[in-house]
Amino acid sequence: MSQARPNESAGEQAYPLLFKPLTIGRETLQNRVVILPHGTSMLRDGAITADDIEYYRRRAVTRPGMIVTGAAVVHPSSARRQRVLVEDYSDHVLPGLAERAQMMRDYGVVPIGQLVHLGRELIGMDSDIPAMAPSAVRSPRDPFAPREMDHGDIAEIVAAFGHSAANLKATGHAGTEIHAAHGYLPAQFLSPATNHRDDSYGGDPQRRFRFLQELIGAIRTDCGDDFILGVRLSADEETGEGIEIADTLRIVEQLQSLGCVDYISITLGTRGAYVKDLTQPEATAARAAGIVRANCDLPVIVGQRITRPDLAEQLLAEGQADMIGMARAFIADPDWLDRVRQGQFERVRPCLGLNQDCRAFAPHLHCAVNPGAGRERVSPFDGKAPVGEHRKIAIIGGGPAGLELARASALRGHQPQVFEASDGIGGQFLYAASVPNRSGLRKLIDFYQTDLRRLAVPIHLGITVQGVSDLIGEFEDVVIAVGARARDVPEEFAQPNVLSWWTVLAEGAPAPTGSGHAIMVDDGTGFWWNYGVAEALVVAGWTVTYVTPAATVGYQIPVESMGPLLARLGRGNTRFKILTQLFGLDGASAQLIDMTSGAIDEVSCDLVVLQTGREPLRLADESAFAPASLHRIGDCVAARRMANAVLDAQQLGMAF
Ligand SMILES: Cc1cc2nc3c(=O)[nH]c(=O)nc-3n(C[C@H](O)[C@H](O)[C@H](O)COP(=O)(O)O)c2cc1C
Ligand code: SF4
Repeated sequence: MSQARPNESAGEQAYPLLFKPLTIGRETLQNRVVILPHGTSMLRDGAITADDIEYYRRRAVTRPGMIVTGAAVVHPSSARRQRVLVEDYSDHVLPGLAERAQMMRDYGVVPIGQLVHLGRELIGMDSDIPAMAPSAVRSPRDPFAPREMDHGDIAEIVAAFGHSAANLKATGHAGTEIHAAHGYLPAQFLSPATNHRDDSYGGDPQRRFRFLQELIGAIRTDCGDDFILGVRLSADEETGEGIEIADTLRIVEQLQSLGCVDYISITLGTRGAYVKDLTQPEATAARAAGIVRANCDLPVIVGQRITRPDLAEQLLAEGQADMIGMARAFIADPDWLDRVRQGQFERVRPCLGLNQDCRAFAPHLHCAVNPGAGRERVSPFDGKAPVGEHRKIAIIGGGPAGLELARASALRGHQPQVFEASDGIGGQFLYAASVPNRSGLRKLIDFYQTDLRRLAVPIHLGITVQGVSDLIGEFEDVVIAVGARARDVPEEFAQPNVLSWWTVLAEGAPAPTGSGHAIMVDDGTGFWWNYGVAEALVVAGWTVTYVTPAATVGYQIPVESMGPLLARLGRGNTRFKILTQLFGLDGASAQLIDMTSGAIDEVSCDLVVLQTGREPLRLADESAFAPASLHRIGDCVAARRMANAVLDAQQLGMAF
């Protein structure tokens, strides 16, 4: 954690602009780092829990300038049945709000509460109250059109923003941020795509702005002037008919002319597309933020895919923004700011930008690379104190599970050694990083490489351990972390033009032959290990027919990645056949069976790639290991995902 700060000045000297204080309203931010709003869903009946407070404490302790808490709703019509958004309008949430804000103040952090009404967006949940919006335009993400708000509804919601903001003020917050981005209600009023009214709240830009103007008026009336008021905007909604940068400049000009807005936070995209995945450029919104900043006098926050301090410093130096916002960098490593402050950015656990666990909300915030995220009160994980006894631990396998265990146990003072059969660390995880647009996954392995070197953990490469006699040295504990292997292609489909998915990952996609038509047959699991292979085939030049027994395409892939993935596959002319299975193969002819009708299609193809699934690996001779000191972690227990492997490893590391 962050009590000892030996080299604080190193980072402060390297990134002087990032660590420069900034005054907004009557508050001074101790630096330019803003933790962007991200809800944890660790709530009960719409109120903050101790888990949520601990999540924020773990980050606040590193002293960012400002934390904008995840969007809280202002009115019951926006509280979904699950009640996983904080209900700032209600008295029952006030004690939690006050405790969390005071906790942030204790670390010198300026606490800002973001307020939202979701309008037409059901955000994948259900509501007992019909959704309402400026116009009855159905969200492409939801099954029902909202009802159109009348002037009474508008007045009620405007008052609700004022009331919720007053609750924030009464509970010690320094200010509020109106969530007028990402396609929620204030943005629905601003956007020509969702506001089709022709009354005083729609019809032209001035009238579309009126709702936001009234929200600001209500907040100022209820909270006075000594309360920060920020507005978050999607500078470009990226929808074609929605808000674009020219509209945003007009909105910003209107905001500035009100003379009572304290900052603008710039982001891009609407719901389902605003948490940019690793295929999107770094600092995605920097250009838009720079344009906004050049056209107004208000301080600007820029966010989206900024994780490097040198990039943050550069954006400040170039005048693209006044503050640097980050969400996922702090989910993946709560110590991001301390590491940067200490000049040790290489020690930061990297966010991989997959959105796999932070956006799944199953049932709340988690992280693929940081098992501690969302479990701050369950276990201290990385922060657990060193032990007195130093056990010698042999770790067989240098994939994420083995490497994480080596790190976690070394941090506690044990003496782990890693034995890896291949000539480099990373294990089968490197296969996942080998497909197009996924090379960013290697950052995790680079992190382990650097940190294990720092911790002086011996890594023996090229040593295949199949039993006790293959280990070099004496060990009190042996941990098997050898991962999983792909199952073989079933005999009935084994022929020269059939490859297993694993072969494509390990060796790359072959060059197209014949007419260049490949069939990718998945197993219905709807995850990257199928789609990554399809993309590798597309990039190699194949035209792919993607066959799946599932009723939908890619249902395990985070929604933010699905759009870009489909676009890439579409550019390669990929065709999908759902509810379909491979029935038979005869040379260059595949029979595909439609699972509903039983009809069989004969399709000619030059290559068939089969998803064969994975099975845990075993050592050839585990008999001589003492059972009490033998442990297994990761995919060799059961083939799952990276998050499971890293969690297994940290739990064992903490137990030693
Ligand atoms: C788990 C999670 C929850 C989020 N919740 C909110 C929210 O409540 N309000 C909001 O404006 N943005 C929300 N966002 C978007 C972030 O504020 C931020 O714009 C986005 O994650 C991109 O920044 P990053 O690349 O630093 O993560 C959320 C993002 C994540 C990952
Ligand atoms: S789950 Fe993935 S994208 Fe989300 S914070 Fe963790 S590493 Fe980043």
